[in-house]
Amino acid sequence: MAADDASLDALGQYALRYVKPGHTIGLGTGRAASAFIRALGASRIEVRGVPTSGASEQLGRSVGIPIVTLANAGKIDTDFDGADEVDPRLNLIKGYGGALVREKIVAVSSRRFVVLVGEEKLVPRLGHRGPIPVEVVPFGVPLAIAKIKALGMKPRIRENDGKEFVTDNGNLILDCAVKKIANPARLDRDLLAIPGVVGTGLFIAMADLVLVAESSGKIRALRR
Ligand code: A5P
Repeated sequence: MAADDASLDALGQYALRYVKPGHTIGLGTGRAASAFIRALGASRIEVRGVPTSGASEQLGRSVGIPIVTLANAGKIDTDFDGADEVDPRLNLIKGYGGALVREKIVAVSSRRFVVLVGEEKLVPRLGHRGPIPVEVVPFGVPLAIAKIKALGMKPRIRENDGKEFVTDNGNLILDCAVKKIANPARLDRDLLAIPGVVGTGLFIAMADLVLVAESSGKIRALRR
């Protein structure tokens, strides 16, 4: 069962201990990241935020966090974002909210990447709960579909209210169902080698710390 709003709010509040005044902070996308952004705004800690999506920029501004572009930010101190799956090595699947490309750029631009999830996101292996999102430039979609099928996956163009879902970058997302991922890093390389693929939702060896909201109400910290 998905973590409820109260436990995500508690998680967002807990994550503030990793924020120092003067820090530049990556603002993730999704329910857990939004709970953190609200807690950060309410805390009045003086920081700047680098958003990972139009939605996180809007939320950040609405709670009073000064927003800077990645180009003007320099190095980001800590990025806080959610995830859709977390495996025992803290590899992730991200992108069910459609912001995977900017999320990965901000995560890699950060000194530390902190992931906020409910315990339902912990999986024995990636692909356990759902597909891998892959962002593709619209022109390249037919080729990407053929190549992804050849890798043994089942790609489907993401839709929202009956229309193709378009990312903040003007691209489409292929949600790729997969039976078993033998080697996530190799699969990521194979997907990225397809012309027109802009990014994947596989975040391999990137998370430094995963904070898990347990159904008991406790928060567990998993470190890589
Ligand atoms: C957005 O593109 C995603 O990567 C989200 O970070 C991820 O889907 C987790 O979102 P929730 O916290 O809403 O589950």
